[in-house]
Amino acid sequence: MTAKIRAGKIRAAVTGWPVAHSRSPLVHGHWLKRYGIDGSYEKIAVAPEDAEAFYGNLATSGLKGCNVTIPHKETAAAACDVLDEAAQKMGAANTLWLDETGRLCGANTDGAGFLGNLDQMAPGWDDRHGCAIVLGAGGAARAIVWALCSRKFTEVHIFNRTFEKARQIADQFGSIVHAHSWDKLGTYIGKADLLVNTTSLGMTGKAPLELDLADLPKEALVTDIVYVPLMTGLLKQAAARGNRTVDGVGMLLHQAVPGFEKWFGVRPEVDDDLRRLVLDDLEQSS
Ligand code: ATR
Repeated sequence: MTAKIRAGKIRAAVTGWPVAHSRSPLVHGHWLKRYGIDGSYEKIAVAPEDAEAFYGNLATSGLKGCNVTIPHKETAAAACDVLDEAAQKMGAANTLWLDETGRLCGANTDGAGFLGNLDQMAPGWDDRHGCAIVLGAGGAARAIVWALCSRKFTEVHIFNRTFEKARQIADQFGSIVHAHSWDKLGTYIGKADLLVNTTSLGMTGKAPLELDLADLPKEALVTDIVYVPLMTGLLKQAAARGNRTVDGVGMLLHQAVPGFEKWFGVRPEVDDDLRRLVLDDLEQSS
């Protein structure tokens, strides 16, 4: 599919502090080329003291919209006139665009990225939507819990080193979502249909994620949002005992889809070429 947009160059960007490490320009640059769109996707470093004014005045920046990364997702959400349901729930937006009337709109696409990755890599994964186990209780965990609730999971159990953070998420999502301290994992792992790691454990340079998977049902899907390394210790351990696994790089790619569509008017495809491009880049910089 090729779409040509000729009405002047559309500009979008990733914004944050810092932004140098962002893979978003690689992803959006690939799609701009692939679909023959006369647009650009830049990196804009926004210092914390400038963030409120930057997002509040996005209409004067010449950008059609932007991605927002750490630490500005909350500031960006506060600047928006309209937020999608996920951004409202998160109190944080990672994708902004100006609509035809000039209103600043914000979305949080992390949850949709998580779902898009599993839908693509493990079709039918949510046919079994009984019990989900989420490890960690940061921003990514909150987005994933929201996503799992949207797919009608019956029970979502969050385990976190700091119990209070798990409790805050559980309180927000109601009676389906339960908070636990890490040491209670053994009590629940035997009924999991899905196990997802959202902590930074297992990432290159961080401590390993050490779990006893002996009681995990063989039918459970195991996924990790860590993608450096791509095959984390958790995924290796799960695959070795016969569980289906999905790595985390697809979440990074799928969360970018809605922004590209809003800015450039084409819903882009997450395909093998894009995945290869990003994996090669990650390999080179590791
Ligand atoms: P993000 O917003 O990307 O999810 P985050 O807010 O920094 O990132 O969350 C990281 C998660 O990894 C948290 O759940 C954190 O646990 P705490 O809430 O107790 O800090 C978890 N995490 C990081 N290092 C950990 C460690 N050494 N042991 C256990 N959990 C860890």
